[in-house]
Amino acid sequence: MTKIVIVGSGRIAWHLGKRLKAKGLPVSQVLSRTAAHARALAETLQAPWSDDWSKVIPDADWLLMAIRDDVIDDVASLLSPHVPGALATHTSGATPGSVLRPFFQRYGVFYPLQTFSMERSPVWSKIPFCVDAAAESDVLFLIKIAKTISNLAYRVTDAQRAQLHVAAVFANNFANHCFSIAEKILEEKDLPFDMLHPLMEETLAKALQNSPDKMQTGPAIRGDMDTIKRHLELLGDHPEWQDLYKKISESIQTAFQKSK
Ligand SMILES: NC(=O)c1ccc[n+]([C@@H]2O[C@H](COP(=O)([O-])OP(=O)(O)OC[C@H]3O[C@@H](n4cnc5c(N)ncnc54)[C@H](OP(=O)(O)O)[C@@H]3O)[C@@H](O)[C@H]2O)c1
Repeated sequence: MTKIVIVGSGRIAWHLGKRLKAKGLPVSQVLSRTAAHARALAETLQAPWSDDWSKVIPDADWLLMAIRDDVIDDVASLLSPHVPGALATHTSGATPGSVLRPFFQRYGVFYPLQTFSMERSPVWSKIPFCVDAAAESDVLFLIKIAKTISNLAYRVTDAQRAQLHVAAVFANNFANHCFSIAEKILEEKDLPFDMLHPLMEETLAKALQNSPDKMQTGPAIRGDMDTIKRHLELLGDHPEWQDLYKKISESIQTAFQKSK
């Protein structure tokens, strides 16, 4: 049985820990900086826990590091003297796997390309897992685990994953920010956000069915400068939304010109 140690106790640690357990891959230990957080996750997973990196189980096979991107190398440096033979992976989209190279001979990445929050249960079968490792045998191991957790496992290099992450920021974070601005604009006029839900659903359905490039509508692609001018005036109290409106409209028009 693979001895899995989850490092961290945030959103990804909770979701992956529970999924691994549900799929017959119990977690052998939870290690995390804050004792209360480590304990809470460990109790759920019925696993031992510690907030002391030196207490990592010495026969751990896989360190699944689900911690903040900018502390991965620090924590790896503290763990490696105690489990030098383990496979260490992080779950970050933006961080190269090679950050682990100075500390572990066997290192890799186990990145779920999805947005996770505590309030929502992930639809596991639809989550693409992007994996990579220094050793072929570890790649095969990570793909096998990913296919147990989800249906979608891809071997993705550091360079590819970095681009995927940029794309994901546009598709998720920026799109969501636009939804949030739209909600505030309606709120200011006492209109319910629900009114936009069918439009949002249709936008996504169309983008999934076809290339979003071909599905673009609205004043920018029509070159309707009168409407754009009126919209910019309406956004007068919100210069930051006005800037965003201008930039995105220009980007739509540039993309349209290039596609002609
Ligand atoms: N959330 C997502 O949608 C998502 C999706 C894909 C990949 N990821 C990646 O998964 C990783 C974890 O993300 P998350 O969303 O689970 O983050 P999170 O919920 O914010 O949890 C972060 C974890 O990092 C730990 N941590 C923070 N600073 C630390 C330090 N100085 N030393 C040691 N541990 C520290 C926290 O410990 P404490 O409990 O002590 O604060 C916590 O356990 C990140 O690399 C992220 O990029 C996230």
